[in-house]
Amino acid sequence: MRTVTTDTITDTFAAYFGADTDPRTREVLLALVRHIHDFAREVNLTHDEWRKGLEMLEHAGRITTPERNEFVLFSDVIGLSSLVDMLHTNPEATSSSVLGPFHISGAPPLPIGGDMKRDFGGPTLLVEGQVRDVDGTPISGAVIDIWQTAPNGLYSSQDADQDIHSFHGLMSADDLGNFNFTTVRPVSYTVPTDGPVGELLDAAGRHPWRPSHLHYIVSAPGYANLVTEVFPDDDPYLDEDTVFGVRSDLVMKYHTRAPETFPAGMVLSGKVTEPYLYVKFDLVLAKNAR
Ligand code: BEZ
Ligand code: FE
Repeated sequence: MRTVTTDTITDTFAAYFGADTDPRTREVLLALVRHIHDFAREVNLTHDEWRKGLEMLEHAGRITTPERNEFVLFSDVIGLSSLVDMLHTNPEATSSSVLGPFHISGAPPLPIGGDMKRDFGGPTLLVEGQVRDVDGTPISGAVIDIWQTAPNGLYSSQDADQDIHSFHGLMSADDLGNFNFTTVRPVSYTVPTDGPVGELLDAAGRHPWRPSHLHYIVSAPGYANLVTEVFPDDDPYLDEDTVFGVRSDLVMKYHTRAPETFPAGMVLSGKVTEPYLYVKFDLVLAKNAR
C-alpha cells in the first residue's frame, strides 16, 4: 500500500500479517492495534502526548526489577489485571484477585495453629478456614501460601527493618482441608508511587490506596491454583481499591472476641489477654481445566 491514510492504516497493518501467522496471535495483535489506532484517532493524539506515553513506558522499564515490576503495576491500576482475572474466574470457586509484587518464593513453613504476629504490636487476628472443591469436598493437604503487610503498611521486601520472611508463611491444610493461624490485623497501604504509575495516578486525580487484606495462593494436585485475597468489611478503601481487587465473596467480617474464647492448641493459646479479631474464610478450588 503506497498511500496510507488515517482511515486505511489499520487495514494496511492487517494486510501485513504473514499467511502462516498463528490465528490466535493474529486475532490478539490485530485487535490490540485496531484499538490503539482507534484511540489515537478518537483523542487526536498529539506528538507530545505520544512521546509522554513512551517516556512513561521507558521509565517503567528502567525501574523494573525481579522484585518490582512497574509494568504489572500499570496493568493493576488501569484495571487490566483484574479484568483478565474476572474473565477467567470459575463462578463456583472462590474469586481470584491480584497477585501483586510482594509475594516471595520460599516462604517459611507455618504449621496449623502457627503464629505470624510474633512480637509485632497491633490487634491479634485469628484466621480459620477450610479448603474444599466446588462440590463441597474437603481438599486434604492443600497448600496455602500466605502473605501480608506488617502493621507499618510495608511488606517485608519493602522494609529493611523486617526479616524477609516476616508475614509470609506456607501452611498445609489438614485431612479435612482445615487450617488456622494467628497474625496481626493487616492495614490499608499505598501501592508504590515513586515511579510512572504514581505519575499516572496523580494525573488522574486518584489515590494510591488498597484496602487491607491477606493474600493467599492455594494449590492442590488436580486443582487450578487460586490467587486471592481476603478483605475486612469495615475497611475505608473497600469500594475504591486502586487496583480493583475487591470481589464480594472476598469480603469478610472480622469479629471481635473475648480473650477467654481463644482456642486451645495454637501457638498463642494462653497468651492472648486482650480481645482479639476472628475471621473465617473458606477457599473453594476449581478442578484443573483439561
Ligand atoms: C498487593 O496487594 O500487594 C499489590 C497488588 C497490586 C499492586 C501493588 C500491590
Ligand atoms: Fe497486598
